[in-house]
Amino acid sequence: MTGTEASHDVVAPEPVAVPEGAVHPVVSVVTPTYNEAENIPLLIPRLHEALAEVPHEIIVADDDSPDGTWAVAEEIAEKDPTVRVMRRFHDPGLSAAVLDGMSIARGEVIAVIDADLQHDESILPRMVEAVRSGEADVCVGSRSTVGGGYGDWTASRRFVSWVATLIARLLLRVPVSDPMSGYFAVSRRAYEETAGRINPQGFKILLEFVGRNRDLRVKEVGYEFANRIHGETKLSRSVIRSYLLGVAELRVGRQIDPQFVLYVLVGLVGLAVNSLAFTAAEALGFPLVTTGLNEALDPIASSFLFSVQLSIVVLFVLNNEFTFWEQRYRGWKLLPAFAVYEVMSLVGTGVHVAVFTYLQHSGFLLSLLGEGATRVAHNLMGYVVALVVNWYLNTTYLWRRRQLR
Ligand code: GDD
Ligand code: MN
Repeated sequence: MTGTEASHDVVAPEPVAVPEGAVHPVVSVVTPTYNEAENIPLLIPRLHEALAEVPHEIIVADDDSPDGTWAVAEEIAEKDPTVRVMRRFHDPGLSAAVLDGMSIARGEVIAVIDADLQHDESILPRMVEAVRSGEADVCVGSRSTVGGGYGDWTASRRFVSWVATLIARLLLRVPVSDPMSGYFAVSRRAYEETAGRINPQGFKILLEFVGRNRDLRVKEVGYEFANRIHGETKLSRSVIRSYLLGVAELRVGRQIDPQFVLYVLVGLVGLAVNSLAFTAAEALGFPLVTTGLNEALDPIASSFLFSVQLSIVVLFVLNNEFTFWEQRYRGWKLLPAFAVYEVMSLVGTGVHVAVFTYLQHSGFLLSLLGEGATRVAHNLMGYVVALVVNWYLNTTYLWRRRQLR
């Protein structure tokens, strides 16, 4: 980081050349699109109508949509000089497209709105005015504030959104009731100050703005989220994961690989499965077994073997489908992948047992905690060491790490 925040007070942004005869736009409206060919011709006149009193331009940031959204938009732009089309071929993604669109914006206020008509454009003038007047640096179109609503979302979607919002508010302490909103307006100055720090992956672009730059003054205007009429949503399955990664990066990204945070979360689920299975098997009276392999360890509780094996299976599925989603194995390759994972997990279990046994012999913490609590503490330490060892093995040989940015 350059640490030149203060200088922004004196340096006004360089005016950008505007075609002769054109009015310099007060607001640039960026709309990210992917397969919105049917919506774009409806959106543009609605934006013109809402912003009839404010000189504006509309920037369509399209990721080379297969349905030809860019072509539809370019056709409109031929007759309408306030419309600009950006057809992107690289680094697809909602946040990346929005940031690219913002980078060519000329207005003193930059607004972002979904192209699918789910955001109510009639509140746009109020959002723009809040920023233009200097009342706020960012004005958010919010579903969770007075006058806002989620439309007819299912209970489960509401719940997921509620949890996600809670996480953002508690962990990141962002002053926004709807931090996942894709509808907001930001001042040029706030944009220029913050854009360079933003991680363009994922969809939570507003969260990046308010999470990276704590100095931004935020205002919210409520609106009712409308139902989609044309086309379909692109934010599906991987959204929750991408969101958690984003939150982890904002919170501890400087210290810890965000993917490791997911790995630990999954590890905690594994620990819970392990404990539950062990308790259940003990209650059911799983027998002691003698393997004949190791006299020191025999007999061994089959409840222990059962709970370890069950958690290995659960952890493999969760890590493959969640933690390492981008590198996940599918089809027949799942079999060898699982075999490798099994071996690594047994190595991890060996490390766990070894650390536990060593600590027990060493008597570490014993005088401090007493016997029962010491066993629990030693067991946890063994688990943590094994987790780190497994993380190293998993990401080196099984789900290879992608290069960090
Ligand atoms: N260029 C580009 N590239 N645009 C995209 C991409 C992409 O990869 N993915 C989605 N979009 C565009 C869509 O075309 C649409 O205009 C807008 O981004 C929102 O995408 P939707 O697929 O309609 O998202 P949603 O309605 O399910 O999600 C809403 O809620 C999210 C979380 O609460 C939106 O309001 C999101 O902005 C919001 O983050
Ligand atoms: Mn949508």
